[in-house]
Amino acid sequence: MTKIAIWCRHEQDNIIGIGPHIPWHIPSDFKRFRRITENSNITCGQTTYESFPNRTLPNRKIYVLTFEEQYQVSDKDNHFVVTDALSLQDFSNTLYICGGASIYKMFMRNQIPDVIVDSCFHGPLNPNLQGAPVDISECIDIMRRQYQQVSPDYEEEDVTTSVWCKKEASVSQEVLNHIMLSIINH
Ligand SMILES: NC(=O)c1ccc[n+]([C@@H]2O[C@H](COP(=O)([O-])OP(=O)(O)OC[C@H]3O[C@@H](n4cnc5c(N)ncnc54)[C@H](OP(=O)(O)O)[C@@H]3O)[C@@H](O)[C@H]2O)c1
Repeated sequence: MTKIAIWCRHEQDNIIGIGPHIPWHIPSDFKRFRRITENSNITCGQTTYESFPNRTLPNRKIYVLTFEEQYQVSDKDNHFVVTDALSLQDFSNTLYICGGASIYKMFMRNQIPDVIVDSCFHGPLNPNLQGAPVDISECIDIMRRQYQQVSPDYEEEDVTTSVWCKKEASVSQEVLNHIMLSIINH
């Protein structure tokens, strides 16, 4: 079924994090992410999972990627450990790929996402954060070569969002409609 990568990156340098933190606070970006992914399945790396408040996101099933088979999730009914990332290629339902950088890179190198929700933040990075910048430039290069933009640019609160589909892939219209309506209906 449909796999969707969803990220918010900083313009030009494609930074998505500093250390474990997202270096901006844009309420509308969090709300857009919630509208798109709520009541669905998401996957993320262990570092990103640990950064969620109380290690959870309400109303979502979370597939946590880790090499540690004994990793303890915070909610055993709704969160699941996955040690073989490529097994998600055969995931039988809609799946949102939610970072961080190692996960975006692994999925993009294998061209697994059918759809990308590409949000680009134009404001300044938070200068008070400690840690190494984390960027996904490699993913953006792959996106520009192997995907095509299928939506207009949507502007909200210093963030431009567009939707991209893998070239020559047939993508579920229902999923695309859901994503576009979730972006527009704020
Ligand atoms: N702006 C955005 O849209 C956005 C979204 C999400 C995250 N972020 C940012 O991204 C940064 C985190 O990215 P990151 O790359 O450091 O960490 P990450 O991708 O969130 O997690 C890395 C961890 O995932 C596990 N992992 C990685 N590849 C795997 C594979 N192939 N199979 C199974 N498990 C695998 C490993 O966990 P173990 O060590 O447990 O084995 C690894 O240490 C943070 O700054 C965060 O804020 C930004």
